[in-house]
Amino acid sequence: MRDREELVRRWQAGWSVSRGWTKVDDDNDGILTVRAGEDNRAMEYVVLDADDKPERVERAAELALNTGGGRGAGWITLATDDREARVEQLEDLGLEVQREQDWLMTIQLSEQPALTLNDRYALHTELESDLIVTRATLHGGVVSSGRMAVVGEDAVADRIETDPAHRRHGLGSAVMASLVETAAAQGAKRGILIASIDGLRLYRSLGWKVVADIVIARSA
Ligand SMILES: CC(C)(COP(=O)(O)OP(=O)(O)OC[C@H]1O[C@@H](n2cnc3c(N)ncnc32)[C@H](O)[C@@H]1OP(=O)(O)O)[C@@H](O)C(=O)NCCC(=O)NCCS
Repeated sequence: MRDREELVRRWQAGWSVSRGWTKVDDDNDGILTVRAGEDNRAMEYVVLDADDKPERVERAAELALNTGGGRGAGWITLATDDREARVEQLEDLGLEVQREQDWLMTIQLSEQPALTLNDRYALHTELESDLIVTRATLHGGVVSSGRMAVVGEDAVADRIETDPAHRRHGLGSAVMASLVETAAAQGAKRGILIASIDGLRLYRSLGWKVVADIVIARSA
């Protein structure tokens, strides 16, 4: 459990770098409080050890519901082994739970295979401030992209996406391979991310493993 919470903490650190968010409270007794400052997402409360400490979920719900900025301003993210129980708890507390499921995943970067891309497409990887950004293009137009934040020995992937018309041609895999190669060259050893259902299928095929279910909710 401790390892998992440590992983959530490390994921959050990289995710905040990727989104340009300022962490405002490192650990408010088991809740990481992040100032997201986006329209419809003012504050993000990441609850650690939610399954064993349900009182933290209650406190995070109170914080989210009292976040100024109107409906949906306060968000909660937590890792769990019991998705159903956490969803029920959050709904009982008055939160709106995201319907789409998500998963916390990780990999030792050296275990992800290197890949080459179909030569119809070109792959570009650049450093943009603190982020590694990879884009695959066809005739100059971006058809797949993603980014990775390196924090110490961790590489946190975010916003991996392929244009629907170009899916299942190896683009997502090639983007991930290039991000991982660049992150590893910067000293990163472990990959961490939160995956959507599409992402789960892609990352599994690349050797990533599920650590926990993720539940995301917002103030209704
Ligand atoms: C996830 C996503 C980026 C995958 O991009 P992609 O370019 O299609 O990925 P690839 O072609 O490299 O897929 C590689 C392998 O992953 C697996 N995979 C990817 N998408 C899959 C799907 N929808 N169903 C089953 N397996 C899938 C397969 O094993 C696939 O190999 P195969 O096509 O030879 O069977 C794309 O589906 C997407 O943009 N989805 C919407 C945004 C999103 O959810 N992004 C992830 C955020 S965490």
